[in-house]
This record gives sequence, C-alpha cells and structure tokens, in this order.
Amino acid sequence: MDEHELHRRVLTYERGWIAFALGMLVLFLALIGYTLGGQLAGVVPHGEAERVDPARVRVEGPWADPARLVVKTAPGRYTVHALAFAFGFQPNPIEVPQGAEVTFKITSPDVIHGFHVEGTPINVEVIPGRVAVVRFTFRRAGEYRVVCNQYCGLGHHTMFGRLIVVPSQGEAVEGDGR
Ligand code: CUA
Repeated sequence: MDEHELHRRVLTYERGWIAFALGMLVLFLALIGYTLGGQLAGVVPHGEAERVDPARVRVEGPWADPARLVVKTAPGRYTVHALAFAFGFQPNPIEVPQGAEVTFKITSPDVIHGFHVEGTPINVEVIPGRVAVVRFTFRRAGEYRVVCNQYCGLGHHTMFGRLIVVPSQGEAVEGDGR
C-alpha cells in the first residue's frame, strides 16, 4: 500500500478511537448527572425546603434573634426556629404549650445533624443551607429529649437537647393522642 493509503487508514483508526472516547465522556457525564440528580432529590428534607446561608444563620435572621426562636403566629399556633449545631441544639430547652400546633424550622450552621424528639414522630435530617420543616401537636405535657441521630463528629454522642411541653391552663386538652 502506498503512503497515502496508510495515512488514510491511520486517520480512520484514530477517528474511531476519538469517537469512542467522546462517547464514553458523554456516558460518564450523563451518569454523574443522574447520580447527582438522584442524591439531591433524596436528601431534600420533609416537605417545604427553604434555603438559608449557613454562615449567616447565627448572625442574622430568625435563628439569631432570641425574640423569634419561639413565636406565637396565631391562636394555638407556634413556630420554633431551632438550630442543630456541633454539638447541641438552640434554643435549649425549647418550650412550647401543650395542645398547640408547632411548626419547627430547623437548620444547621455547620454539618449535617439529626433532629429527633424522642417519643414523637419528629425526626428530620438537618442539612446546612436548608431548612427542615416539621409540624407537630404535643398532646402530652412534660419533658422530651431531643437527640441528634446523624453522625456529626467527635461530640455526636453528647448532642442532646430538651423540649418542654408546658401544661395548658384552663381549657381541657383531649387525651394523650398517642
Ligand atoms: Cu449532631 Cu450527631
């Protein structure tokens, strides 16, 4: 074969490999996109997901304002802005009235934590930059323990908080509800 023919064959061969490499690149990018998409979809906490700047939650906004940590928003309705941080919860204790519908808005200034109120279905993953929202009505007055159930560092096993449900005075509150 002459030099021309050889050159042509080499070129075809190279083009084949270039096409193969590009094909693999597209496939890998697609796989990465698919995985990321799945992960992002998987970690969105319960219901509404608001965004917040984790570097600023301790200096501005409702989590930094003592007057807004536990707010009465309507008769029988409260919103609690709680922080899960390494290694504790704020406010601590959290105080809410018995029988009120409580909306917890929880975020983290550092790493992923958990927010689980023992003896209740409240159990959310708290991700820096996102706000976990969970609603609950405490029928039983008393003290509950708040625990972190996501490994968050050396102090993870010491990360506890207290939640106190203050007995409602006056109007009767229906049974335990549990
Ligand atoms: Cu916070 Cu484990």
